[in-house]
Amino acid sequence: MMNILVTGGIGYIGSHTVVELINKGHHVIIVDNLSNSNIKTLNIIENLTNKKVPFYQKDVTDKQALLNIFNNNKIDGVIHFAGLKAVGESVEKPLMYYQNNLMATITLTEVCSEYDVKKIVFSSSATVYGNQTSPMNETMKLLQTTNPYGETKAMSERIFQDIAKADPQFSIVLLRYFNPVGAHSSGLLGENPSGTPNNLVPYMTKVAKGKLDRLFIYGNDYDTVDGTGIRDYIHVVDLAKGHVAAIENLTKGLDIYNLGTGKGTSVLEMIDTFEKVNQIKIPYEIVERRPGDIATCYADVTKAEKELAWQAKLSVGEMLKDAWRYESNI
Ligand code: NAD
Ligand code: WQD
Repeated sequence: MMNILVTGGIGYIGSHTVVELINKGHHVIIVDNLSNSNIKTLNIIENLTNKKVPFYQKDVTDKQALLNIFNNNKIDGVIHFAGLKAVGESVEKPLMYYQNNLMATITLTEVCSEYDVKKIVFSSSATVYGNQTSPMNETMKLLQTTNPYGETKAMSERIFQDIAKADPQFSIVLLRYFNPVGAHSSGLLGENPSGTPNNLVPYMTKVAKGKLDRLFIYGNDYDTVDGTGIRDYIHVVDLAKGHVAAIENLTKGLDIYNLGTGKGTSVLEMIDTFEKVNQIKIPYEIVERRPGDIATCYADVTKAEKELAWQAKLSVGEMLKDAWRYESNI
């Protein structure tokens, strides 16, 4: 059993991870500034787990606030989700992304060092691979990403690399997520972005609900099976379990793991599966490619499977059924 501080624990991936950590007997403390989440999620987490979860509505870039949290709680390790994640917004407001995401990483690790908390799991992204040939493998050299959000992930990774080099007592894991989708099987936790969704599955579920009239497919002239983009969609609960495996299997130094399924699915296949499992039609229109998109991105997952004894289990059908169950509930 570990005492784990979860930054961004009220958010989409954080909330699912908190539930899985508590289910495995860990004690969780959450810090989140609620800039992209709702406090109601805390009650849902507590109801699902039957546990009271200490919560601090604080900014991770606020060093004094973090010092107070570390002073008042016994913390063995940290899972660091807190960050801004909208790719388009990061192109418009790069400084906001560098300020928030990099300062969160720096401030948190500074305080971890001061309190001798040397176990850290960090939310990175497959976006750090840039446009390379799939399957993406952890040993690949990283290419320039296409947007400031992606750069904050690549830079944070380098900061963690340097910290691990400078102090061999650190155990750090960088988790590169592919495309997290789906929701908790209760239908109570899920992804509900404010405004028009940027990502495929949240957009699709809003179309299914009649809140948006059709899905725009960003290009059908890619070099893929049907011309539409291919991604490695992973169920958020499988992803959450990947974090539990990562923090329970930490070793000294720094490790990097892809968290995906290892399988690619096209946009048209996603639409087809959604329609089959939910019996709802998704009207769509093919439009221009979205700037910055790549044709294909899926993971080589052999390293996580071998070293973390973890494997994504849920199918795209289950992801899309759960995403719809959540959307129809809210
Ligand atoms: P999310 O926005 O739902 O969750 C992030 C949480 O962090 C939110 O609750 C937000 O209020 C909080 N937060 C942001 N900045 C903060 C700060 N300075 N101090 C305190 N709290 C702060 O996003 P998510 O989808 O759950 O993503 C979690 C992490 O995983 C992020 O770092 C994201 O970049 C990364 N990631 C997400 C995806 C994805 O597709 N969802 C893919 C790869 C990586
Ligand atoms: C998936 C596919 C689109 C919306 C993004 C970030 C990445 C990571 C995960 C955080 C692509 C197509 C999409 C739509 C469409 N996030 N699409 N119509 O771009 O793979 O990854 O989220 O780290 O950094 O870039 O995910 O869901 O936006 O797109 O046709 O309305 O669906 O072109 O092929 P993406 P996505």
